[in-house]
Amino acid sequence: MTIINNRFANKVAIVTGGASGIGYAIAERLIQEGASVVAADLNIERLQAIQAQLGERFYGVKANVTVEADAANLVSAAVERFGGLQLAFNVAGASKAGVITELSESDWDFTVDLCMKGVFLCMKHQALQMAKQGGGSIVNVASLNAQVPMYAGSAYASAKAGVDMLTKNGALEMARSGIRVNAILPGLIETPLTADLLKQEDIKAAYMERIPMKRAAKPEEMTGPALFLASEDAGYVNGASLIVDGGWATSGYPDLSRWF
Ligand SMILES: NC(=O)c1ccc[n+]([C@@H]2O[C@H](COP(=O)([O-])OP(=O)(O)OC[C@H]3O[C@@H](n4cnc5c(N)ncnc54)[C@H](O)[C@@H]3O)[C@@H](O)[C@H]2O)c1
Repeated sequence: MTIINNRFANKVAIVTGGASGIGYAIAERLIQEGASVVAADLNIERLQAIQAQLGERFYGVKANVTVEADAANLVSAAVERFGGLQLAFNVAGASKAGVITELSESDWDFTVDLCMKGVFLCMKHQALQMAKQGGGSIVNVASLNAQVPMYAGSAYASAKAGVDMLTKNGALEMARSGIRVNAILPGLIETPLTADLLKQEDIKAAYMERIPMKRAAKPEEMTGPALFLASEDAGYVNGASLIVDGGWATSGYPDLSRWF
């Protein structure tokens, strides 16, 4: 993808989960469009390798988004290294699957803490800094599962629905501080998170039956929607849930196409 504008010049962004998949793609594109990026992840080795590749405007910080001190430290790192914070992308997430009757308390806690509490803690500290500076823009990465349940995915879908509502609550509370808060809800994206699943042809086929575009997205295809929401072009967009799923959300009905 060739990027021709510099719309985030002199802006500082935090990207959580920046070592892989969607977070990495967002961080890379922010750098291409002129921003400085503090990327947070548990995987510091990968962050260091990315820093060597993307240069001085990328700074990797080891952080666990479920720990409040780490969320606060991330914001301090952005201020100390690059002088402030205008943009934040809360992307880190993963899940442990299981049907409700078999899901352990620890698997529930792992998933809900990472996907929902992590976003709360990061938003809290990002917004405190942005408010001091007169405003900013936060984009949370939820999932289509915020609106659509998934077999054996109760913890993940519940947490992602929570992220969607946290986004709207943030939009309501933070507008007075000049901060907009929006979310993207990705469908099926080719990242390390879904690699094993997509290797299984029968499971992949079941997904493709539902996805009208008949393919998963590349992580780079999440960057346009996410950066649009962060940008001035979306200056009056606040509390939005932007589904980016190739039309998957439309296909709850069986596929009737063979009869037409
Ligand atoms: N891949 C998909 O199909 C898909 C679909 C919808 C939503 N999402 C969401 O997009 C986000 C990114 O997913 P991805 O597919 O790029 O996954 P990924 O596994 O490629 O990247 C996730 C990153 O988050 C980091 N991470 C995990 N726990 C962390 C923690 N406690 N603190 C800091 N960092 C942590 C991981 O080290 C990893 O680098 C997740 O929130 C995921 O739920 C993904």
